[in-house]
Amino acid sequence: MTVLVLGGTGFLGRFLCAELRRQGAVVLSASRRGAGDLTVDLTASVNLTAELSEMMSGVDVVVNLVGLSPIRGYSRSEYLAVQYRGALAAAAAAAAAGVVRLVHVSALGVHRHSAAPYARSKALARRALLPPSAAPRPPQVIIPELALLTGHEGEIARSLRRLAGVARAFGFAIPVPLPRFSTLFQPVAVEDAARRIAGLALEGKGRDTVGVTVEIVGPRVLSMSAIAAEYLEAHNVPVFYLPRQFTPPLVWLLSRIPLPGFPRHLDEMLALRSTG
Ligand SMILES: NC(=O)c1ccc[n+]([C@@H]2O[C@H](COP(=O)([O-])OP(=O)(O)OC[C@H]3O[C@@H](n4cnc5c(N)ncnc54)[C@H](OP(=O)(O)O)[C@@H]3O)[C@@H](O)[C@H]2O)c1
Repeated sequence: MTVLVLGGTGFLGRFLCAELRRQGAVVLSASRRGAGDLTVDLTASVNLTAELSEMMSGVDVVVNLVGLSPIRGYSRSEYLAVQYRGALAAAAAAAAAGVVRLVHVSALGVHRHSAAPYARSKALARRALLPPSAAPRPPQVIIPELALLTGHEGEIARSLRRLAGVARAFGFAIPVPLPRFSTLFQPVAVEDAARRIAGLALEGKGRDTVGVTVEIVGPRVLSMSAIAAEYLEAHNVPVFYLPRQFTPPLVWLLSRIPLPGFPRHLDEMLALRSTG
């Protein structure tokens, strides 16, 4: 079976391509900057569907992992171009190329009325790829809704490592907003998510339907503060909890001031409506 992984050079993509190969698939990895087997930019408008369709010739399954980070502060139009219009172009190209199955990776907790443009563009793509939408797409469409991924090379772990390094160097404790802060996550290890998505790509989902969503979550529900505190304490960095009323201004401030270790636009991520 030949699988094309769009976004195959990213954090999840590298694990997924390795897992698919381990399970015997022929894997083609594509990305924007050309680090994979193929290069494609899902925002390039001229002939995109035709270019993608040619790339998909002979491919059985397409997995679309292309996405923009919710905490790097892209514009609303950039999120829409990549995560909505790009996703629809990929689905249309897959349909035109005779691809049997599309696995379109989305995120848990996204909603089209969400405050975060990242989440809105993801939710729009999900709606457009599921019935009753008539958008062109392959006969089988599976939409995994991923919780926050954990792993050494993940964005959150990298940010916290940098922060822990600074804290250790200057010998200070890290203020952490109270764990009761409302946005909750069910983090899942990137290896586990890759295994689950590889299974969906290679075997489908039961009696395949035109569209089905599958939640991919870890065993524990945690706030971002609890995730940060666990990670920092495990790296021998003392933390202290801030009173609850300081949480919104702190998150607002950290989202706008470039501090070493803290992802910018943290508030975008925390604007996801429910457990993600
Ligand atoms: N990481 C998480 O915690 C998490 C949680 C929920 C859902 N997800 C979703 O899972 C998917 C994979 O996430 P990830 O963490 O692996 O993301 P990532 O590390 O940022 O990788 C994104 C991939 O998309 C490619 N890409 C970005 N813009 C592109 C464009 N315009 N055209 C073509 N390719 C483009 C990147 O290629 P270049 O590097 O060449 O630009 C890269 O290969 C995304 O859809 C993400 O929203 C992730």
